[in-house]
Amino acid sequence: MKTRTPLFINIAVTIGLTVLAFEMFAHESAYFSSPFFWGLMVITIILLFIMNAIGDLIENENFRKLSDEEKAIFLKDKNTPYFQKLWNSAFKKQSATEEKDILIDHGFDGITELDNSLPKWWIGLFYFGCIFCVVYLTAFAFTDYAHPEAELTHDTKIMLASIEEYEKNAPQITLENAKYSADNIAEGQELFKTNCVTCHGDGAKGGIGPNLTDTHWINHKEKSLFKNVFWMLENGSPNNPTMRPFIKEGTITGRDAEKIAAYIYHINQETAPITPAQGGAAPQGDEIKWENGND
Ligand code: HEC
Repeated sequence: MKTRTPLFINIAVTIGLTVLAFEMFAHESAYFSSPFFWGLMVITIILLFIMNAIGDLIENENFRKLSDEEKAIFLKDKNTPYFQKLWNSAFKKQSATEEKDILIDHGFDGITELDNSLPKWWIGLFYFGCIFCVVYLTAFAFTDYAHPEAELTHDTKIMLASIEEYEKNAPQITLENAKYSADNIAEGQELFKTNCVTCHGDGAKGGIGPNLTDTHWINHKEKSLFKNVFWMLENGSPNNPTMRPFIKEGTITGRDAEKIAAYIYHINQETAPITPAQGGAAPQGDEIKWENGND
């Protein structure tokens, strides 16, 4: 009769496998704090205790049927610590008679070979590999597990939701409180490329919309250049609907407008204008001397 694997080993293996399964299938990585996870753990451990108790009963029953000699061997085996047994089994050698039973004789070449049974750790690893393979393939085929695009979409959704939450609570930027900051120029340039370049051309040299790098302006609603650009983005052009009220129609936020206006201020006041000779559009409107350019 064989001795059984001790309870604590079964518990450790089961906990390991359960954590592995949660790692693979749980959508939220915070499963450690979920009551479902801990409930499952407690139930599993209780079941293992029950199974162990049933195992004890069966073992006692079988033990009674053994001969005295078999009983002595079984008790000796049972009293050896589990890891000691594992260690011993790794170095176990057959006796000469046992060897005879598992000898394969090649006959003609005189080479003899022992038909040893495979080591337990090897078989364990093999079965674990087979089971893991099936679980992995099933998970891959029917869930989002191990799909990088799905993970990216999931994380992007969370990120966008947190940005939206921030936008909702952060104070809105309006014409009154918008402020110029040189830190916004680079981001403003990117926003200009996505929203404005189709009409105002590369570097705002002009196209369907006027050249924004020169001294001439059709619309001058505010005293400062920075605020004037913001005003245009909020209200659009009163004379020409092609220049739309981007903020009011919801295409860009006040925060975006503050950045774009900083960029336009920068290319208009802090860099040389793109003249018609350099491919810029001819000046339109009146020549304006802005008061406090970026105020
Ligand atoms: C669909 C084309 C179009 C797009 C896109 C567009 N604009 Fe315009 N924009 C115009 C036109 C046309 C005018 C001239 C309006 C007028 O005649 O009053 C103009 C005028 C302006 C003016 C005032 C210029 C002046 O001389 O009075 C500013 C500032 C401006 N746009 C900024 C922007 C910014 C910043 C964006 C991107 C968020 C943008 N525009 C996107 C077509 C466009």
